[in-house]
Amino acid sequence: MSIRRIDQAFLLETEHTSYLFQVLDTGHLEHLYYGRRVYIGAQGEGLQALAERRAFSLGNTNSYDSAHQSLTLENICLEMSAYGKGDIREPFLEITHADGSYTSDFLFREAQISREKPAYATLPGSYSEDGNAEHLCVTLQDKGYGLELELHYYVYQECDVIARSCRLINGSESTVQVQRLMSLQLDLADTGYVMTSFTGAWAREMHRSDLPLQAGRTVNASYTGTTSSRANSFVMPSRKGTTEDTGECMGFHLLYSGNHYEAAEVSPYGKTRLVTGMNPQSFCWQLAPGEALEAPEAAFTWSGEGFNGMSGQLHEFIREHIVRGQWKKKERPVLLNSWEAAYFDIHEAKLLKLARAGKSVGIELFVMDDGWFGEREDDTSSLGDWQENRKKLPGGVAGLSKKIRELGMDFGIWVEPEMVNTDSRLYREHPDWTLEIPGKAHSEGRHQRLLDLTNPRVQDYIIDSMTKVFESGEISYVKWDMNRTFTDYYAPSLPPDRQGEVAHRYVLGLYRCMKVLTERFPHILFEGCSAGGNRFDPGILCYFPQIWASDNTDALCRAKMQHSYSYGYPLSVLGAHVSGCPNHQTLRRTPLESRFGVAAFGIFGYECNLCDLSG
Ligand code: GLA
Repeated sequence: MSIRRIDQAFLLETEHTSYLFQVLDTGHLEHLYYGRRVYIGAQGEGLQALAERRAFSLGNTNSYDSAHQSLTLENICLEMSAYGKGDIREPFLEITHADGSYTSDFLFREAQISREKPAYATLPGSYSEDGNAEHLCVTLQDKGYGLELELHYYVYQECDVIARSCRLINGSESTVQVQRLMSLQLDLADTGYVMTSFTGAWAREMHRSDLPLQAGRTVNASYTGTTSSRANSFVMPSRKGTTEDTGECMGFHLLYSGNHYEAAEVSPYGKTRLVTGMNPQSFCWQLAPGEALEAPEAAFTWSGEGFNGMSGQLHEFIREHIVRGQWKKKERPVLLNSWEAAYFDIHEAKLLKLARAGKSVGIELFVMDDGWFGEREDDTSSLGDWQENRKKLPGGVAGLSKKIRELGMDFGIWVEPEMVNTDSRLYREHPDWTLEIPGKAHSEGRHQRLLDLTNPRVQDYIIDSMTKVFESGEISYVKWDMNRTFTDYYAPSLPPDRQGEVAHRYVLGLYRCMKVLTERFPHILFEGCSAGGNRFDPGILCYFPQIWASDNTDALCRAKMQHSYSYGYPLSVLGAHVSGCPNHQTLRRTPLESRFGVAAFGIFGYECNLCDLSG
């Protein structure tokens, strides 16, 4: 049993950690402990030693109510919190009710422990093949307005990971506006932590930053519409002085591929709050009576054995409970990608020459990258028109893939399904299918626009057009790219009062497309990509078992990036290729041995002109 209810307390245990909270007599959930496994007896022996004593109310603070004069919500550790009843720290949720009030007060109603891990209605989640993840669902109810909040906890004992998610149900009579719904709140009873996050940009993903948490708020967030190379959603809070092998360290993952938000707040009373979830920036969700809103799952771990201990636990979690499907444990083929060898200048004869050179050195999978469809000669046209260019591929995808198979290699293809160039048939036919503010100038990124994935008709188009592509030849690998970030957030298919839902609805639409297509083509090995590592997260990994880490393949830069990725992600999900010399991004010359040595740590492949290895 990894979850126990002891009177009014709930104890979650993994092999090496304990997580404990209790229901106060007001109904609030007080967080008591998270860390190294501690002994709590069957009757709760040891529990009260972990509970904070509150003898008097603090000066210039508010008591929860007249019956609880010493209960100051501003200064207790909570499992979830909202504004309005005294807690002024970073909240877990924010709701504007029909009467205009934005005070919420969620109190305990009931709890259930089970062995079930039902799939979420709208979002991806971790899973347990042997059905061994125990599940605690605590239902809270808002005292004033009747909304319900389910807090879900899943315990993965063997890898010391706990996953959390929540579901808000509008049980009231009126529509409310949800401005924030986080996935995880962890209140720590002390201070002295360091927040490590990984920031960057295109071609320089995952630069580690260690920020000692001082008084006030520290935020790691993305607003690019994607997980973002600017700030990955994986963070690792640790105690000052933690090393690779010693010290206390936590790791937080969010199973989400859109705008995210990780914040830490050190309070004046010596406590630290950590939250992670969807970015509340510009988020506003209309929740009608009877409707529910799910927050993405967050997974977290604790280790007393430094960053290395924490990483090992998350690696196992991702390998066992996130990655799924036929490729989960299967050895991945060594691939050769055409991009840096040919860029857009591809045609069948050239590709076959490259493929033959690949075959002669042991390549197992040949991948045709960008440039094979529509009138695509550069990045200004044709995204959205997913028909092969017969001038470049006289025998089509079918003909080329057959020839590659005859050479004894598998065949893979590049697609960018979420995008459209304004110079395309698709855009001319459906100018209202993109995220654009009608009648207003649009900011440009790589000459392309985002399709409106909040619109089910657009999702259907993506599913249908990709089905045709994936059936058009003998395709066993797909690189799914996504090359621009969001601006001018606006979905013409949604009414004005729902524009605050665009960013999240886009991600939900994307997940639907990925789910349908990966289920329809279970034999295909999918690799996620977003201008390199702009969407590297466990949400994507629930569908695609690997992700391209960066367009920067310089061995020196890559060694650093891959080291950073490895804190939160196993290298078995990270695409890494040997590229040409001098490197196309940095112009640095590195020996082939170094390039090979670095790429060999990840999912190995080549991305260079094997017909000319003079460099
Ligand atoms: C992105 C990808 C590259 C390549 C190009 C093609 O930049 O990250 O690997 O596929 O698109 O346009």
